[in-house]
Amino acid sequence: MTRPRVRDDLAALTGYHSPQVDVDVRLNTNEAPAAPPAAYSAAVARAAESIAWHRYPDRAATELRSRLAAIHAAEGAPVTIDNVFCANGSNEVLQTILLAFAGPGRQILTFEPTYALHQHIGHITGAERLAVDRTSDFLIDTGELAELFEFESPAVTFVCSPNNPTGMVEPRETIEALLEQVTASGGLLVVDEAYGQFSDFSAQELLGEDVPLVVSRTYSKTWAMAGARLGYLLGPAWLVSELEKVVLPYHLDALKQAAGIAALDFLDDMSERVAEIVAERSRVDAALRALGNTVWTSGANFILFRPPLDANGKTTGSAVWQGLVDRSVLVRNTSSWEYLDGCLRVTIGTPADNDRFLAALTDVLTASDSGDPT
Ligand SMILES: Cc1ncc(COP(=O)(O)O)c(C=O)c1O
Repeated sequence: MTRPRVRDDLAALTGYHSPQVDVDVRLNTNEAPAAPPAAYSAAVARAAESIAWHRYPDRAATELRSRLAAIHAAEGAPVTIDNVFCANGSNEVLQTILLAFAGPGRQILTFEPTYALHQHIGHITGAERLAVDRTSDFLIDTGELAELFEFESPAVTFVCSPNNPTGMVEPRETIEALLEQVTASGGLLVVDEAYGQFSDFSAQELLGEDVPLVVSRTYSKTWAMAGARLGYLLGPAWLVSELEKVVLPYHLDALKQAAGIAALDFLDDMSERVAEIVAERSRVDAALRALGNTVWTSGANFILFRPPLDANGKTTGSAVWQGLVDRSVLVRNTSSWEYLDGCLRVTIGTPADNDRFLAALTDVLTASDSGDPT
């Protein structure tokens, strides 16, 4: 058989991977450390009993979208149900934006290093890549961008804040400056706030019907629901209508909608968990610094750090990562990623997980001081 050929522009593509290793403590994929409250699981089970399984689900996800709109309106976002679009994880939200507003012949702009899926989905959906380096402290320098926006006019510009993998939050002035340039060049600004609840500033307050801005959120992190695959965006109503044209009909199954709605009754639990993670983040940050690591201040549920250099001035990230795995702790090995030479990214876990991580790291660093890193 002559095998059918994949699209030429996808032939060299490597898939997106997040390697898993069988260990006691998994701090590598920025999930919530604990399952949702037991009362939540009971509420979803009750909701499942009244689902009409022989019928298609509510295509417009009316209750879910109106409940989400009410929560964000209470936080000061100028939104109603018409400003909310839901999908299977925020990755599908991003994909739908790119299908509708980017695609062949158009460019998408990212600020590197950032969440790899922005360019990855851009590539799959046929858009061209435009990437600008961040400054040495991993922030965006908007002063340099006027010419780029004038001559390239990217169709979609992504800002991830708090940024994955650095954890850093972009200041409000940066988002405002970018919005001005995006508006002038006729593009769309997407602020990916997958980790938005862990930081103090959200771009949701800048939203408006005449503002080319969307803010994307996910249930995967704060809501401890990575297994449910649910995400959404807030944006102008005209934009939501365009997305609804592109997305597959009935893409949000009835159980997922019920799970998403039930979660919203547990807002206080969610806020408590966020506060606990933020407190643990400060503790882990301080401990990492005390151990001599370089640490980037995080507004997310993870921290990027670079272990101390060795006696020859070489980075030690990979050896430290292996030393942690040998002690049954898994963090994300970002040490060979472009821009992140020798860095590792650790998700904030339960206090016990974090203790295990810090003890293992202390052990590895002490061993490497004595010339035996593993
Ligand atoms: C910045 C960022 N955006 C989006 C996502 C995707 O989240 P979801 O699980 O909602 O698809 C992630 C997941 O890690 C992320 O880090």
